[in-house]
Amino acid sequence: MTVKKQKDFIWSEYYKIHHERPPNHTLVKGLEFFISNTKILPKTAVDIGCGNGHDTVELLKNNFSVLAMDREDEAINLLMSNINQKSSFLKTEVSSMETFVVPEVALINASYSLPFCNPSVFGSFMNMIKNNILDGGVFCGQLFGVDDDWSYRNDMNFHTKEEVKEIFKNFDLILFEEVNEDSTIADGSPKHWHLFHVVASKNNV
Ligand SMILES: C[S@@+](CC[C@H](N)C(=O)[O-])C[C@H]1O[C@@H](n2cnc3c(N)ncnc32)[C@H](O)[C@@H]1O
Repeated sequence: MTVKKQKDFIWSEYYKIHHERPPNHTLVKGLEFFISNTKILPKTAVDIGCGNGHDTVELLKNNFSVLAMDREDEAINLLMSNINQKSSFLKTEVSSMETFVVPEVALINASYSLPFCNPSVFGSFMNMIKNNILDGGVFCGQLFGVDDDWSYRNDMNFHTKEEVKEIFKNFDLILFEEVNEDSTIADGSPKHWHLFHVVASKNNV
C-alpha cells in the first residue's frame, strides 16, 4: 500500500492568487436571506478562517460587526490592508479552530475553512458553531466530501452527503449544493473536488 505524504498547506500562495476574488457565493446567498428574513436580529458575524478577508469586507459593507479569525498572522495582516481604514465594526483574532471560542452571533461564515479543522475536535467545534448562532440566524460555508482528493489526510475532516445533512438537521437549508468533479486548485494543479456548499438558517425552536 502506498502512503501519500501530507504536505503542509502554504497559505501565502493561496492569498496571492485569491487577492482580487469576490465574496463567496454562499456568503452572498446567506446575506440575501438574512436581509430579507431576519430583520430583528443584530447584525453580528464571525468569519472563521477569514483568509485575506474578501468575505469579511462584504460583511462590513453590509453593516455587520465582524469578528474575523484565522490561524495565520499573514491572513489578518492582508485583511487589515484590504480595508481602507480601521473600522470599529471589525475585530480580528489570530487563533485556531482547535482552541477558538465562538461567540454568540447572528451569522457565522466559514468559507473553505472548516475542512481544515482537526478531525479530533471538528464535532465539538461544529456543535459550538451551531449552538452560538442566534435563533433565526444563518450559517454559510463549505464542508468537504469523502471523494475529495485530499480525503487521505488525517489532519482534515471529510463527510458523506448524509453526514452533512445530519449536521444541519435542525436548520432549514437555504442552499445545499454538492460538487464532485475533476478541476484544479488555486495554482492550477489538478484536483478532484468533492464539497458541499451550505447556507442554512437556524430554526426558531
Ligand atoms: C482555503 S482558505 C479560505 C480563506 C477564505 N475563507 C476564503 O474563502 O478565501 C482556508 C483558511 O483557513 C485557515 N485555516 C486553516 N486551518 C485553520 C485552523 N485550524 N484554524 C484557523 N484557521 C485555519 C487558513 O489559514 C486559510 O486562511
